[in-house]
Amino acid sequence: MGSFNDAFWNLFIVVCTLGGILWLYLLTIASMRGRGPGAAGGGAAEVPRHVWDEDLTELDNPLPRWWVILFFATLAFGVVYLMLYPGFGTNSMILGWTQKAEYEAEMARAEARYGPLYEAYLELPVERVAEDPKALRMGERLFASYCAVCHGADAGGVPGFPNLRDTVWQWGGSPEAIRTSILAGRDAAMPPWREPLGGDAGVDEVTAYVLSLSGRSVDAAKAAAGREKYDALCVACHAPDGTGNPALGGSDLTDDVWLYGGSEAAVRKSIADGREGRMPAHGDFLGEARVHVLAAWVYSLSNR
Ligand code: HEC
Ligand code: HEC
Repeated sequence: MGSFNDAFWNLFIVVCTLGGILWLYLLTIASMRGRGPGAAGGGAAEVPRHVWDEDLTELDNPLPRWWVILFFATLAFGVVYLMLYPGFGTNSMILGWTQKAEYEAEMARAEARYGPLYEAYLELPVERVAEDPKALRMGERLFASYCAVCHGADAGGVPGFPNLRDTVWQWGGSPEAIRTSILAGRDAAMPPWREPLGGDAGVDEVTAYVLSLSGRSVDAAKAAAGREKYDALCVACHAPDGTGNPALGGSDLTDDVWLYGGSEAAVRKSIADGREGRMPAHGDFLGEARVHVLAAWVYSLSNR
């Protein structure tokens, strides 16, 4: 869509606009033809064209003057309006008005009005803000606007987008960790392992071992072979006992809570093809104060 701002479309719109005005002007002039001196005002010359049913007559008179004047007035209004406000391709016109500036001014007014409400909470630690019912209501509203699309209206999550109500945290559940997740975002990098594991057989073995970590019954021989591979390749991010590594977002594999699903097929897919969950950074967009209030609301979900 960005290309609709380029030089061609600019010219296209300018030509269409000018052409439209010119055409309407010519149309009005044409409709005045035949207007004789006697045709002014109400005293139109009556030139009968058809007569039928004895006394019904169709006339072909020029338009009345007031009507023509009205036409010219609307044309003039259009021209003046176009000179003042944008509408002429991408050119900014005499008043320099733009939708973007209007939006920014509105946002600045809103920020001046509501910003301080959020900023007041910056002085309190997240845990304390999480005890303030008013702050929690503000946080809930922010969540509905900015986060619910991905994490669900109740923050309960969907596959690929984590549940924020439970006590399982990939990147840490401390107030500071939650705040950082929202401010700076998170980029998870789980590499694909099919090749390093020597193909599907190796993937099957590690899958069996991973499932056994959360107490699922699996083929013991496969799991034992998988364990060796796990110890060689996976411990850096998922820890030797499988409980994960919040610094790298490496999931806890022992808790039977799965971001991408816990079926054997889903776990096998995570291991074979890798996963790259991405939590976008919201700091620049929402500002620190709103993120602070949001972090308090998220924190309150699992700490009440
Ligand atoms: C470089 C760090 C790293 C290594 C090494 C690594 N992982 Fe991961 N793994 C991650 C990260 C980060 C995630 C979370 C991915 C996401 O959130 O998108 C993850 C996710 C997973 C998941 C999905 C968990 C869920 O909740 O759905 C499984 C299963 C898994 N890893 C298994 C393994 C196995 C088995 C190995 C070794 C063969 C391994 N990982 C090696 C970083 C790693
Ligand atoms: C575009 C989708 C998207 C939006 C919007 C989004 N998130 Fe996320 N969020 C994610 C994904 C995906 C992850 C998991 C990243 C990973 O795989 O590790 C995540 C992770 C998180 C985490 C870390 C969870 C953990 O277990 O450590 C928190 C906290 C979080 N989001 C809060 C929020 C808040 C608050 C908002 C609103 C400002 C928000 N998110 C908006 C997609 C989103």
